[in-house]
Amino acid sequence: MNVFLTGATGFLGGELAALLSKLTKIKRLYCLIRGDETGDPPHRLRQVFDFHGDAFDNTRIIPVEGELQDDKLAEKLMHVKEFREIDTVIHAAADTSFAPASAASNDKVNIGGTLQILNWVQTLPSLTTFLYIGTASICGTQLTNCHIHEDQSPNTAALHLVRHCYTKMQGEIEVTRAIPKEKLLVVRPSIIMGDSRDVKPRSCVILWALAAVNGIRLIPVNPESVLDIIPVDYAANAIAELLFSKRRWTTYHISAGKQSATNLAKVSGAIEGLFNDRPPFKYVRRQLLPHMKRWSKKHQPTSELLGFPEYVSYWSSAFNGNLRIVLAGLEPYFRFMELNQTLDNSRLLADTKLPAPPSPHEYLRKTGKYLNDIDLVAGALDP
Ligand SMILES: NC(=O)c1ccc[n+]([C@@H]2O[C@H](COP(=O)([O-])OP(=O)(O)OC[C@H]3O[C@@H](n4cnc5c(N)ncnc54)[C@H](OP(=O)(O)O)[C@@H]3O)[C@@H](O)[C@H]2O)c1
Repeated sequence: MNVFLTGATGFLGGELAALLSKLTKIKRLYCLIRGDETGDPPHRLRQVFDFHGDAFDNTRIIPVEGELQDDKLAEKLMHVKEFREIDTVIHAAADTSFAPASAASNDKVNIGGTLQILNWVQTLPSLTTFLYIGTASICGTQLTNCHIHEDQSPNTAALHLVRHCYTKMQGEIEVTRAIPKEKLLVVRPSIIMGDSRDVKPRSCVILWALAAVNGIRLIPVNPESVLDIIPVDYAANAIAELLFSKRRWTTYHISAGKQSATNLAKVSGAIEGLFNDRPPFKYVRRQLLPHMKRWSKKHQPTSELLGFPEYVSYWSSAFNGNLRIVLAGLEPYFRFMELNQTLDNSRLLADTKLPAPPSPHEYLRKTGKYLNDIDLVAGALDP
């Protein structure tokens, strides 16, 4: 089996690369990687394996330099003779930024880049499987307070919290158009946060939001609203399991489902004891958010904030004037936290031998010790 993977330097793609490299049935694992200021593609791929001390066999794991925004990417890949032996393509790369300023790049990478990969893949003589890593969040924001099944998406009328979700939906639509059903596997992870093993997660994407909530402590969100979150090691295992299982469907949620869903009250309860240097978590009604934002700009509490002197004085010393930036970055997350959605995972559990994932409030204690390493302002500027 010869596999081509995009996104290997990412949070999920990195775990997948390490996991797939251990499977002897995979003869070669080609990884599409772009060079950047941190290094050239071979160096960056090596770092992926070094991160958790995974063995790196450079005769089997092969970096391929490439940029999804390159309009000639498909053409370039078509000209590489060895790629004609590739039978499995896993497209994990995406522009995952939620920042409004990243909208154009979301489009170019998640739709345009996916089209480049599809144009090339359609020329592969031995292709058996095209695995697209989508996102369960394409279900949109109108579906609230409910349990969601795979067939409810894609829905082109869905409204999206951020451009990233819209472009992932369009990417999935293109994939479904281009790849015959018998060769297609679409996985849609729910929110991926942290790692259930006792290791440092390779990315603080999403974990940033927990670090920020842990930082501000006064949270304008319903703490009982259900959250569907999974750890990255479970997501990678589930994708690998699905790749080799006898599948009855084309599309699978990789999610916590009703069994393992959590909420902010349970998550904050799990990490609270790790941080005794700040006020306790307190949940308040959403209407307090504009007052918190106003305070963060003018540093004068409105009458609505007068009941929370402990928090106001803590923000003054803890945020050094940056609370405004952190609150702005958190805004889409606050809206997401109140959607009260769970994603059905019965297809995944029926077609693999996987157990339900651990709940975040069970594994986050391990990840919690890394929260203080996260730069809240940098994360807020590029959520
Ligand atoms: N994390 C989640 O909660 C979550 C949930 C559901 C679905 N997903 C999906 O899972 C996949 C992986 O997400 P992730 O969390 O691992 O994201 P990530 O950490 O941001 O990684 C994104 C990967 O895509 C690559 N990439 C981005 N732009 C590129 C470009 N122009 N050309 C080539 N490569 C490019 C990145 O390469 P560089 O290192 O060079 O930037 C990186 O390897 C995505 O498709 C995402 O939509 C993620």
